[in-house]
Order: sequence, then structure tokens, then C-alpha cells
Amino acid sequence: MELMVFLKGNLLALVLLTPDDTSTMQGYMNDHEVTQFLGRDALPMYAHQEKAWLESLPKEGHLVLGIWHRSDEKLIGSCGLHGIDYLNQLAELGILIGDKDYWNGGCGTEAVQLLCAHGFNWLNLRHITLRVLGNNPRGVRCYERCGFVRTGVIPGHVLKAGQWHDEIHMLLTKETLTLTRSSEMETKIAHMAENSR
Ligand SMILES: CC(C)(COP(=O)(O)OP(=O)(O)OC[C@H]1O[C@@H](n2cnc3c(N)ncnc32)[C@H](O)[C@@H]1OP(=O)(O)O)[C@@H](O)C(=O)NCCC(=O)NCCS
Repeated sequence: MELMVFLKGNLLALVLLTPDDTSTMQGYMNDHEVTQFLGRDALPMYAHQEKAWLESLPKEGHLVLGIWHRSDEKLIGSCGLHGIDYLNQLAELGILIGDKDYWNGGCGTEAVQLLCAHGFNWLNLRHITLRVLGNNPRGVRCYERCGFVRTGVIPGHVLKAGQWHDEIHMLLTKETLTLTRSSEMETKIAHMAENSR
């Protein structure tokens, strides 16, 4: 199926996911090295479950996109804004780079920046929140680079393999969002400046 690009950055494009992506995404969701950082890793992800999720898109209250590595032409994960609440202008960010070869290479930062800029600029969001486990300093660093600040922590909130992990809560606003300047992101920054006038 033809690749449908929704948001374009330097390294990445955020693309529409389709049921053809089932096996790639299912592979990521069954890799414990990846899922140890997520709320779910106790149960396997079956192909029919992953396919049903992909077929359910677009889903009311969610903006879910694939993370496509432009030069390698590869789907490396997905990200989304969930629980979009237009009345209170809120959403919660989720992200998964399932291909571990792409960790620490700036992909998470760019995907978060692209998605959140879109959330503020086009969905009129005011607050984007996220929850990240205390076992995930890489995630925390990535979010801080994008301008998220810690708003609190629930100590020992999530149990994984006999160990209790903190749940850290973070918040991003349009004012704190940090964008890495790239030519394609410049357009979004310009839009944001116009809108905030
Ligand atoms: C978390 C995730 C989205 C981050 O994406 P990424 O592309 O790996 O992150 P980036 O390269 O943009 O940024 C990571 C930063 O953390 C730093 N980092 C890596 N390991 C670290 C550690 N143990 N302690 C502190 N910082 C660390 C990196 O050096 C980098 O910072 P820098 O560029 O200032 O040096 C991605 O790794 C991922 O999806 N992991 C698996 C699933 C997951 O954790 N999802 C999020 C659940 S909340």
C-alpha cells in the first residue's frame, strides 16, 4: 500500500498506519526489551489483536501515527495523542520506537516534537501530558529535551517482574515545547507564532 505521510520532519515522517503494518507492529509489541518500558508486557500481542487495533483507526479521541524513518524507508514505531479532550484542550502522549537499532538517535525527540507541534497548532491543545516509568531514563531525557516538565511521581506504582516502579507524570505546553530547527519544522513554528499573536 502507498505510504501516506501526514507530518514530515528531518529524519522522520509520521505516517498513516494500515492493517498491512500488523506484523511489524506486532513484532515490536512482543519484544520485552521494548515493552518493559510500557504499561503492558505481561501478555502477548496476537496478530488479530494488533490488526483489529490498526483497523479501528482513525479512532475517536486518538491521533495515532506510524514513525517512518525516511532515509532507511522503514516503519520503526508509532506515536499518538490519546484521550483528546477538546473541551479542556488536553491529550496524553504515547510513543514506541520498537526497532531498538533506532534508540538514542534522536528519533524519539523528533517524533514527539512533530506530534506535539501538530497538537498545539492544529488541534488547539493547551496541555499534553504523559506518564513514564522510573525504569526509563531515556524516555524522561527525550521528553525533557522536548520541553516536558515533571509534575509529580507516584512512587512504586507499577509492578514488573517482582519490582515496583515509580510512575512519573510530565506536562508540555505550547510555551515550553522545544523544537529542533529544521527547514520542514520552520513552517510549523511560523504557524505557531502566527496563531499565538
Ligand atoms: C523512549 C523513546 C521514545 C526515546 O526515543 P529515542 O529516539 O531513543 O530518544 P532520543 O535519542 O531522541 O533521546 C534520548 C535521550 O536520552 C539519553 N539517554 C539514553 N539512555 C539514557 C539513560 N540511561 N539515562 C539518561 N539519559 C539517557 C540519550 O543520550 C538522549 O539524550 P541526548 O540526545 O541529550 O544525549 C524510545 O527509546 C522508545 O520508544 N523506547 C521503548 C519504548 C518506550 O520507552 N516508550 C515510551 C514509554 S513512556
